[in-house]
Amino acid sequence: MLGRVNHIAIAVPDLAAAVTAYRDTLGASVSAPQVLSEHGVTVVFVELPNTKLELLEPLGPDSPIAAFLQKNPSGGMHHICYEVSDILAAREHLIQAGARVLGSPDPKIGAHGKPVLFLHPKDFFGTLIEIEQV
Ligand code: CO
Repeated sequence: MLGRVNHIAIAVPDLAAAVTAYRDTLGASVSAPQVLSEHGVTVVFVELPNTKLELLEPLGPDSPIAAFLQKNPSGGMHHICYEVSDILAAREHLIQAGARVLGSPDPKIGAHGKPVLFLHPKDFFGTLIEIEQV
């Protein structure tokens, strides 16, 4: 069911400092920041030869990553996103197998304009998983 890793998302408390670290210290190609109000984050994309990273900074106190950063004040890996070809078939398979979908079972449109779902981290060894239909 799982395809490529689409992206790995890292929550950061200071996006400017994270951009400097990835661009200047690690020598990666980093996009300009994009404000995604509907997702409660400001994001930069780090393009790597085989995948991309998303560095996420909370936008406002109700940001979905605010609680994560309270627990992990210096930042940390927030989720990993895998590609699937059919998100509804994937959802049915996952629910049959006992996995929990977070929030509404209806896919939402994610940061890339594609349907996504998030899976409960307790079902996957402490890792928040996003699946994205590509
Ligand atoms: Co994501």
